[in-house]
Amino acid sequence: MKKSKAQVQGTNDFNTISKCSMVKCGYFRDDYVSYFVTRCSRRTPLIHLGYYMRVLTVDYALRSFLDSVLGQPAQIISCGAGFDTSFFRLATSGSVHPEIYFYEVDFTEVVDRKAECILDSKPLLDCIGSFEMNQNGVRGLVGSQYHLIASDLQALDKLEANLIQAGLMFSLPTLLLSECSICYMDEASSSLLIQWAASKFEDATFVTYEQIYPDDGFGIVMQKHFESMNSPLLSLAQFPDLESQEHRYVSRVCIAFNGSSTTQEVLVQTEI
Ligand SMILES: C[S@@+](CC[C@H](N)C(=O)[O-])C[C@H]1O[C@@H](n2cnc3c(N)ncnc32)[C@H](O)[C@@H]1O
Repeated sequence: MKKSKAQVQGTNDFNTISKCSMVKCGYFRDDYVSYFVTRCSRRTPLIHLGYYMRVLTVDYALRSFLDSVLGQPAQIISCGAGFDTSFFRLATSGSVHPEIYFYEVDFTEVVDRKAECILDSKPLLDCIGSFEMNQNGVRGLVGSQYHLIASDLQALDKLEANLIQAGLMFSLPTLLLSECSICYMDEASSSLLIQWAASKFEDATFVTYEQIYPDDGFGIVMQKHFESMNSPLLSLAQFPDLESQEHRYVSRVCIAFNGSSTTQEVLVQTEI
């Protein structure tokens, strides 16, 4: 495996330990994160606060989407899901009716490790019910609601083929989530992923939670941290604030619909 790819996957381990530490300190209830770590080192209060805000925000976005599709079939695709536990938490809180389908996508190595954790843990297995492993050319775990799919988000044709093979339907209302994930892809690839989502789904919502403001005090320290982990944030320079991020998404929707990035003919609803 290329070293840079291994480092990007390493962000998932750092991240899961930080979430576990934050949960252990009582900021947020998550009965499942501990099944995905072998050790849970204690992080600093500042890291706890950052992760608390992050899980709260993403949880709010997912629950709002689930409320908006109450009673109808819908899908959630987590792009670069890592060891995220949202499906398990929402499933046991009764927020996910049987026709809500979760697709988690990550690199093969991450998916294999996540599948291993799931197979080793009865509480996780109880959440997903019956499933098949590595069937019909799809690497990963395919259940009736929960799908864990190995795919590089930069290879869109293969990603699409894998998701369809696992059961994805472009006609269903769909939330695509990138929680600190596509920021590690080069700008062209991550923007193409956004454009792909806009062009393929009849009704899509893209939720992104990613780093901005590289030049303030926090941003400078943050960039050094990611560079030292050899996993730099590859679109931060081009989209350094909310406005440029918003423009990025709107223009990709426009390209998907009109073939040009002019925003005049497309009504896009954004919420920041
Ligand atoms: C910082 S972790 C975040 C994990 C999860 N979203 C969360 O917040 O808990 C970033 C994840 O994105 C995944 N990722 C980055 N680039 C990817 C790509 N091109 N294809 C698939 N997964 C990718 C990494 O492997 C890693 O698991």
